[in-house]
Amino acid sequence: MTAQNSKPDFQGLRVLSLESRMAGPVQKLIEKYGGIAQVAPSLKEVPLSDNREAFHFFERLEGGEFDLLVLMTGVGLRTLLKILEEKFPKERILQAFEKTKVVVRGPKPTSVCKMNGISIAVTVPPPNTWQEILQILSEENLLQGRKVAVLEYGVSNLSFLQELEARGAAVTPVKVYHWALPDDTGALRKAAADIVAGKIDLLLFTTQIQLDHLLKMSSGVAEELVLRRALHRVGIFSIGPTTSAHLRERQVFPDYEADPNKLEALVEQAAQQGPEIVKKKRERAEHGWVRLLGPAGARGPAPLPHDSPMLRACRREKNERVPIWLMRQAGRYMQEYQLVRQGVDFLTLCKTPDLAAQVTIDAVERLGVDAAIIFSDILLIVEPMGLPLEFRESTGPLIGTPLRSLEAVQKLNAVKPEESLGFVFEAIRKVRRSMDMRVPLIGFAGAPFTIAAYMIEGKGSRNYIPTKTLMHEEPQAWHLLMEKITAATIDYLQAQVMAGCQILQLFDSWVGCLSPSDYREFVLPHMRRLFAGLPKNIPTIHFGTGTATLLSLQKEAGGQVIGLDWRQEIAPTWDALGPSVGVQGNLDPVILFSKPKVICEEAGKILEAVGSRPGFIFNLGHGILPETPVDHVMALVDFVQQWH
Ligand code: CP3
Repeated sequence: MTAQNSKPDFQGLRVLSLESRMAGPVQKLIEKYGGIAQVAPSLKEVPLSDNREAFHFFERLEGGEFDLLVLMTGVGLRTLLKILEEKFPKERILQAFEKTKVVVRGPKPTSVCKMNGISIAVTVPPPNTWQEILQILSEENLLQGRKVAVLEYGVSNLSFLQELEARGAAVTPVKVYHWALPDDTGALRKAAADIVAGKIDLLLFTTQIQLDHLLKMSSGVAEELVLRRALHRVGIFSIGPTTSAHLRERQVFPDYEADPNKLEALVEQAAQQGPEIVKKKRERAEHGWVRLLGPAGARGPAPLPHDSPMLRACRREKNERVPIWLMRQAGRYMQEYQLVRQGVDFLTLCKTPDLAAQVTIDAVERLGVDAAIIFSDILLIVEPMGLPLEFRESTGPLIGTPLRSLEAVQKLNAVKPEESLGFVFEAIRKVRRSMDMRVPLIGFAGAPFTIAAYMIEGKGSRNYIPTKTLMHEEPQAWHLLMEKITAATIDYLQAQVMAGCQILQLFDSWVGCLSPSDYREFVLPHMRRLFAGLPKNIPTIHFGTGTATLLSLQKEAGGQVIGLDWRQEIAPTWDALGPSVGVQGNLDPVILFSKPKVICEEAGKILEAVGSRPGFIFNLGHGILPETPVDHVMALVDFVQQWH
């Protein structure tokens, strides 16, 4: 951070405040410290007694009309209780809650229930999105023919309400407010547009709801994503811990929090720290910025990043710094991803090039990582081979008719990727067209063993009994299966390169279940052929998990870079592999749940151990887990990129 004693001076930065009541004083303060002020009132207070809907709902609740009451937010429940307490004694209110089953979406409404002595019937598991609510209520058969009230704070989640109805529930949404949008939203709308246009340098948040109302100025998911992207370049200042917590929950991360949490302190400290913070934030955004919507007059297509840290590491050249990207960097832990996923199921997302490209790019921009990986899944290839594929929220991937015999293997189709997986190549082309190409794009496929095992098991597995049994009892069927997958994978990866990928990664996530001798006999020949069939000028990363005893065989199979999980110690493992391969890895993804300080210490140990060996790519030892805090991931990326 900047020197604490520098004079507070915005130096002509454009400072936006969303304050309503204190609009005038904030404006004066900003100007006093040399900023160009823009004030856009974002709230109107709604007297609690005006919440008629709440009182009407209460009558029905008392009458025992609802089978279920779903509590979406803690603040919604708190507001409802406040409203009701203006008119009724607490005891009567609590009695009314006893007449229904209370369903809570997450930790916030749970703690409000506990504080008030409201009993909870159903708790929704993380990541607490409406999909999990739906799933648990369907599984427990609580929807068909039931009367369901959904308590919302301000905004409705239409998709959720529709899905409840589609499952046979009679739904009553109940909305409570404490704050509403101002009658005239012109200034707020303009503020959102100005942020998108890059006309705002610094944004001051003085209450938590301001962000919600700002985001509401977007007319849909696509617009919200554009606004969120633009916020990556704006210095975000928060008045205090409650506001910061709320911003973080919405994955807009404050760059600075005022102390003491007073308006004057906020503006003065923003003026003191602002110029430096905004500059750093811009540089960070500039690095990760891949520009989906190039502004008018943008430069022509940028040259390929032949010399990016990522590509240099793949070629084991001396590098200015260690590059970092993260397996599963686009996923449910990220709000941008959740926004897109609200509207579509996972397979549809993979098969819609605009959305797949969007999600690919959002992850790069949000994190500022050194490589993009095309958004897709290793299992998509099983569909054109002739097996039905499904992704269920609860169980993950499911293959409808698992392979168990030679005949079934013989019946598998040869794949013509251009025909059946065209959406992947279209997504790759879209990413390449829209990105400024500061970072290379990784294409990928599952390695044949992992795909074969999925095809045979039909779903996740612990002991791989059907897989290993087929392998040993019917080696002919096994090798035919591996040959078919290998041939399809070569064509698939070649087509990804033709479409614009500059690096390829093979995921052999399950291969660690094999003994070295099984690997040698049943996997190695196919992997060799696979690597030999890939374009020579494209670096390949060969990743597996639980592979400590297989590494020398994997190296024999191929790949310029070997991906390691966290179960192996990086330096001795690399020494054993020798300097002819690069290494990618290998932080335990669970470390990302610790405090940033701990994350950086653990990442530092890996970086120390690797030292100046050329050919190192920092990554996790396996994919990011769904509940990982995004700001922790950002802290890791910043730390690794600043390491030297
Ligand atoms: O890395 C990236 O950001 C690119 C996208 C990517 C996904 N899957 C997206 C995805 C990649 C590279 C994969 C690879 C993949 N898929 C592997 C190999 C890597 C690994 O993790 O071992 C495997 C084994 C799969 C199969 C798969 N796909 C499983 C087991 C699951 C369910 C478990 C889970 O994490 O949800 C998926 C679904 C999947 N693939 C999701 C994502 C973002 C979650 C889907 C959602 O609910 O939105």
